[in-house]
Amino acid sequence: MINNDVSQGKERVNVPVVNELDDEKPSAFGYTLVCIAGPNVSDSFNSPFYPGCECHQITCVADACSCMQAYGPCYDNSGCLLIYNQQLNDYCQPVFECNSCCACPETCPNRVVQKGLQLKLQVFKTKHKGWGLKTQQTIRKFTFVCEYAGELISVQEAEKRAQKLTHETGNYLIVLREHSSENHILRTHVDAHFHGNASRFINHSCNPNLVMVPVRVDSIVPRLALFATRDIDVGEELSFDYSGEFRVLSAREQRGECKWQDSLRELGKEPKSCFCGSLNCMGVLPFDASLYMQ
Ligand SMILES: C[S@@+](CC[C@H](N)C(=O)[O-])C[C@H]1O[C@@H](n2cnc3c(N)ncnc32)[C@H](O)[C@@H]1O
Ligand SMILES: [Zn+2]
Ligand SMILES: [Zn+2]
Ligand SMILES: [Zn+2]
Repeated sequence: MINNDVSQGKERVNVPVVNELDDEKPSAFGYTLVCIAGPNVSDSFNSPFYPGCECHQITCVADACSCMQAYGPCYDNSGCLLIYNQQLNDYCQPVFECNSCCACPETCPNRVVQKGLQLKLQVFKTKHKGWGLKTQQTIRKFTFVCEYAGELISVQEAEKRAQKLTHETGNYLIVLREHSSENHILRTHVDAHFHGNASRFINHSCNPNLVMVPVRVDSIVPRLALFATRDIDVGEELSFDYSGEFRVLSAREQRGECKWQDSLRELGKEPKSCFCGSLNCMGVLPFDASLYMQ
């Protein structure tokens, strides 16, 4: 074991780092439990925005709590996500938790992601993907695992950082897209390169066991929460699909004139090989063309 807690006491549970392959240690980064403001992003991005419920004495329940009435109960009594639809590209109901304006106690069942990591995980060195994150306990389907924390950055900053990436640098930049009813796409950019938490070690898989779901607590800016999409065994590596299960197509790809790997090559970037090892592996890591198309 290299380090018995990469979070340096910040998480409720230790996150040990283990390397059974060589002498390498993970490169340094700032450990942050939640997203922090990146360049030119106001610190107030996380200020309370939503009204709170008035559930003083009782625990929040669907037929009395104004939060649950407005947004529907999102979790069952054991904190598992109720509303995730596993059909690819299907509409997923937004998730809102009770927030700092709510009268309910910390034990409210509508407070899950905001409580942070509760599971025993481990950072470990993989053979072909650098570092990875595995679980040291079984995880039930739809359980919240961890939040993808990092710097919240603007689209301009994300484009700048994406341009600078080389084949050798790890890419910790996640773009989450939400489709609103008016056909608007809301994009949230989080980069965990310089600041992040245990989630920054989670590798991509073409057949993942986690899914990223936007969850709102205080702020209009969503938290990028990772939930288990199936039961996960002790010792299994955690993974999610970096593309969010759909790939962003450039104009030429949309016209069917080329594949996304070709668009990447046209931009002078070679796609990175995917070593997820799943039967349906696409062979290359997903790439967000929208960050290079301006
Ligand atoms: C968010 S980081 C994941 C942690 C990273 N493996 C590390 O050592 O810090 C993303 C980077 O990990 C590597 N990676 C993630 N998933 C991979 C995969 N399926 N195959 C190959 N490399 C992968 C790539 O270098 C990618 O840019
Ligand atoms: Zn309530
Ligand atoms: Zn509540
Ligand atoms: Zn793959």
